Amino acid sequence: MYSKIRYKNIEVSFLWRLNGGGIIFAHEFVHIVSQKIGKVGHVFEYCAGPGFIGFSLLANGLCDRLTVADVNPLAVDVLKDTVKNNNLQDRVAVYHSDCLDAIPETERWDLVVGNPPWILDSKNTKEIAVCDPGGRVHKKFFKDIKEHLVPGGSILFIESTWFTSAGSFKEMVESNGLTFRQILGPVSYPGIFKNWAEYKGLKTPLIIFLRLCLAFRDAYFLWIMSQDDLPVPPSGPGLL
Ligand SMILES: C[S@@+](CC[C@H](N)C(=O)[O-])C[C@H]1O[C@@H](n2cnc3c(N)ncnc32)[C@H](O)[C@@H]1O
Repeated sequence: MYSKIRYKNIEVSFLWRLNGGGIIFAHEFVHIVSQKIGKVGHVFEYCAGPGFIGFSLLANGLCDRLTVADVNPLAVDVLKDTVKNNNLQDRVAVYHSDCLDAIPETERWDLVVGNPPWILDSKNTKEIAVCDPGGRVHKKFFKDIKEHLVPGGSILFIESTWFTSAGSFKEMVESNGLTFRQILGPVSYPGIFKNWAEYKGLKTPLIIFLRLCLAFRDAYFLWIMSQDDLPVPPSGPGLL
């Protein structure tokens, strides 16, 4: 029997052992997407686990369609359970995939969100929710993602300064035709009490708790886009 968490009109099934922190971070994704990106057509959640992040974006009206994927078959089972129980078959696609390997080439996304395993310098290949030995799960993603992004599409990943900085990903981002649009956070301790608009509906102590978890874990967000979508610099007489 699965545990449940409700995001507005969607009840998400999960097992606690599949929670990689998304149960806490999902609200911050809603917050950032609302403020920085706005509603999009199609979201993909990479390394989705139970899909806390993707389903909360869908429930909050920040996308029309959602695709979710994970390599862990248990995660795929709970994702399918949520889709079935909420009658989301026409809006949500679920894939069992090692990185993007089993995703059809035809899938195109406006926004990719993810909470990938944070620890790159580990040799542990068993704890796949937290360890990404050699950065394989990140490297393969950045190598393959561009063909799935629509023009103007972007990527929003949560990472932790305990283990990485944006510099850890610079080479794998830029060598694949992508670039950092913005690096956000981590939430400062005073920042815990600011800009709560997208948390509305939650009780104040819960909001403080969720944001404290972000601050405590030194979580930061990478917002990444295609280099092709960089604004064209002005040119013309006198500007050469
Ligand atoms: C930090 S957990 C995040 C889970 C969930 N998104 C959350 O926020 O709670 C990382 C997830 O990445 C998945 N994962 C690890 N290696 C993967 C791979 N090679 N391909 C796809 N998913 C992978 C794990 O199964 C796990 O669900």
